[in-house]
Amino acid sequence: MKEKRMMKVINAVLRHQTGLYSMTCRHGVIEKIEAQSTVLTEQGEDVIDARQQLLMAPLVEPHIHLDAVLTAGEPEWNMSGTLFEGIERWGQRKQTITFEDTGQRARQAVDMLVAHGIQHVRTHVDVTDPELTALHAMLELKKEIQDVVNLQIVAFPQEGIESYQNGRELMEEAMRLGTDVVGGIPHFEYTRDKGVSSVHFLMDLAEKYDRLVDVHCDEIDDPASRFLEVLADEARVRQMGERVTASHTTAMGSYDNAYCYKLFRLLKKSKINFVSCPTESIHLQGRFDQYPKRRGLTRVPEIDRAGMNICFAQDSIRDPWYPIGNGNILRILDAGLHICHMLGYEDLQRCLDFVSDNSSKTMYLGQDYGLEVGRPASFILFNVSNDYDVLASQAKPILSVRNGRVIMRRQEDQVQLIRSN
Ligand code: FE2
Repeated sequence: MKEKRMMKVINAVLRHQTGLYSMTCRHGVIEKIEAQSTVLTEQGEDVIDARQQLLMAPLVEPHIHLDAVLTAGEPEWNMSGTLFEGIERWGQRKQTITFEDTGQRARQAVDMLVAHGIQHVRTHVDVTDPELTALHAMLELKKEIQDVVNLQIVAFPQEGIESYQNGRELMEEAMRLGTDVVGGIPHFEYTRDKGVSSVHFLMDLAEKYDRLVDVHCDEIDDPASRFLEVLADEARVRQMGERVTASHTTAMGSYDNAYCYKLFRLLKKSKINFVSCPTESIHLQGRFDQYPKRRGLTRVPEIDRAGMNICFAQDSIRDPWYPIGNGNILRILDAGLHICHMLGYEDLQRCLDFVSDNSSKTMYLGQDYGLEVGRPASFILFNVSNDYDVLASQAKPILSVRNGRVIMRRQEDQVQLIRSN
């Protein structure tokens, strides 16, 4: 289907606004957003009637591993359910990946994401592979899917930068090949010193190639894992905070309050972003506890209340770390709000922030995101009218438009209740 020269959405409810709005788009760009004084009845090929339901910017997936999707159980299942066995199982599967196999699985996962109203995706790609096979497949995929998804690729050193042979060279080669983001995994490096030097190295690399940063940081229940302070201080000193993300930081759920109080001062000054993957973390963490068992998540509400930017992500779809998943980021939001004690009134009114606006900030999308005049005509439509109803009814987007072109339509569920006479 081609981009429509002109498109108009009428009778739409916008987040954080009262009343109805219409939005006119031309050549893939938002041209006008106007408040309506009454319900409009316009019809036509170029008119989309939102029927007084929610119109918003697309959902965002800020942390996933598209190179590993749909490999759960291949060649063996992760029986302990730990992160470290996941890395071991992936190490086995990695030996058989090919360019074609990676591309085919990733394409299938992208379809799942698009079906759930997602248009921006940040994928971490394992670059601890001398051939960089998955990275080549992902760079190809990025071009291929650009009409439906904006894909950011992170050079992710799954087996470490300092602890893997030629780790530094592979990271640099990934930059030369055109990855968008520098990754890291300091808590997996063999020693604390190697973890710290890996952070210095990856920040240097980001500066040298002018790239964003997203580090798997302290993804462990160990309260002594404190690489977040290193990353945040590097970001603060280099004034790169808004371009830097700390993913997971699950150890923060195990830090004592005295240390966290001091840490938050630095985190706020650094301006870095945070990603929490609640389903993955509740599954992988707490595995060495008896009872009480830790939830193994970072301090999501505390980070949010302190005015810092945090969003939710899926991390996996059926891979060695997490055996289920279907691309639905709203399922992750639902789980995350439960696990983080965030089902209070105020959170319910703005819960979609955690899978839309906050995530776009993490991905540093700037003017490429949001329903504002002059920005891309990219949006989704629900058949409910606000954040609370999306969550409470487990709604799914029914329409997704990208740059003025419809890329997904979902038929509303038809349910018939049969009552006895
Ligand atoms: Fe991850």
